[in-house]
Amino acid sequence: MQIATLILGAGAAGMMCAAHAGPGTVVIDHARNPGEKIRISGGGRCNFTNLGVDPACFVGRNPHFHKSALSRYTQWDFLDLVQKHGIPWHEKTLGQLFCDTSARDIIAMLRAEMAGAELWLSTALRDLRRTDAGFAARVEKDGQAIDLGCRNLVIATGGKSIPKMGATGLAYDIARQFDHPVTEVRPGLVPFTFPEGRFSALAGVATPSRVTAGGTSFDEALLFTHRGLSGPAMLQASSYWRESESLEIDLLPGQPLAQLLRDARQQSGKRALTTELARHLPARLVDYLGQTLDLKGNLADLSDARIDALAEALHHWHQRPSGTEGYRTAEVTLGGIDTSSLSSKTMMSNRIPGLYFIGEAVDVTGWLGGYNFQWAWSSGWAAGQAI
Ligand code: FDA
Repeated sequence: MQIATLILGAGAAGMMCAAHAGPGTVVIDHARNPGEKIRISGGGRCNFTNLGVDPACFVGRNPHFHKSALSRYTQWDFLDLVQKHGIPWHEKTLGQLFCDTSARDIIAMLRAEMAGAELWLSTALRDLRRTDAGFAARVEKDGQAIDLGCRNLVIATGGKSIPKMGATGLAYDIARQFDHPVTEVRPGLVPFTFPEGRFSALAGVATPSRVTAGGTSFDEALLFTHRGLSGPAMLQASSYWRESESLEIDLLPGQPLAQLLRDARQQSGKRALTTELARHLPARLVDYLGQTLDLKGNLADLSDARIDALAEALHHWHQRPSGTEGYRTAEVTLGGIDTSSLSSKTMMSNRIPGLYFIGEAVDVTGWLGGYNFQWAWSSGWAAGQAI
């Protein structure tokens, strides 16, 4: 069967691309339903974009690559589409836009937009090769082998995150098959793990923090878990962290602890230091910190030097994770298809004409907060336009 365009992967990027790729497009996916990650995203409400999308909020070897697609298909363009389909939405925090009702609204919208394309679900790719006219693929659908010939081949199979949901490294395998370079991949937006029991006494405690990893800081909530450290601040930091590095955690961001303690010492000298700290930090965290820091005595007992040392310790709390929870829970995969061999305008390989890579498979990873879907929409749109 001869078609114009074969898109592998009916996720966010593949469906967006299919909506723009024109006639003769077939999308295949090994899953039973399209857009499974959209369905579970944002706690079932899909944080579909961010009002503050900025190229600086993306990680990748080339910090300029994603600018073209993001500026040609913006968060406002996607929001227009959402509004055109009458999907109710709201801004939650930090510019993050969510569906009011269900992430399924976004999937239904994309399915409607790609109505001109054929969608083959529960379909596996069995073989793929180049031909004079483009590409030849053998796929298996309902136990039947189907041979497809196409001019354009779009790889939209995402990254390795959450294998239980059907994530595979197919995009990287195809890139390697066609001699297209792939950068090192690792889990991103993922909780940190620590040696057994390190924070189990604090499991469930959340506190505002500023977490710094690899020179980049995030001011968001930190959550202690049985396994280690999570919460938005930690997920964000994980995308900048490297094995064996320490995280620097400011437990009192924007609060000048040394000054607060000096003022409190003057006004309420008989108050216990732990009582004063518990006015600024969760009480269970203060108890925990008392195991390693000297928090005994009243405020009147504190010397200036001890106040300064305490402020230093709590504004620069260093913790070295043993690792992360890995692809099992990572929201994204960092690294991927090397952008040095892709056109930033069309997403086409500049080594293999007609071969496109879009979405999470590419070495472009956004921050937490709707940035990754925006990259899927923008890169999918860019490829669809070019086809
Ligand atoms: P995506 O993974 O969506 O799609 C890939 C498709 O390819 C899938 O349908 C898969 O079945 C198919 N496929 C894979 N291998 C295949 C193979 N071998 N053969 C055939 N088909 C194959 N982002 C955001 O911006 N806001 C949010 O709220 C969230 N929330 C969120 C929650 C959770 C739990 C996760 C895991 C992730 C998020 N994300 C997110 C990230 C976001 O889901 C992700 O960046 C996009 O889905 C990437 O879109 P893609 O289309 O590139 O891949």
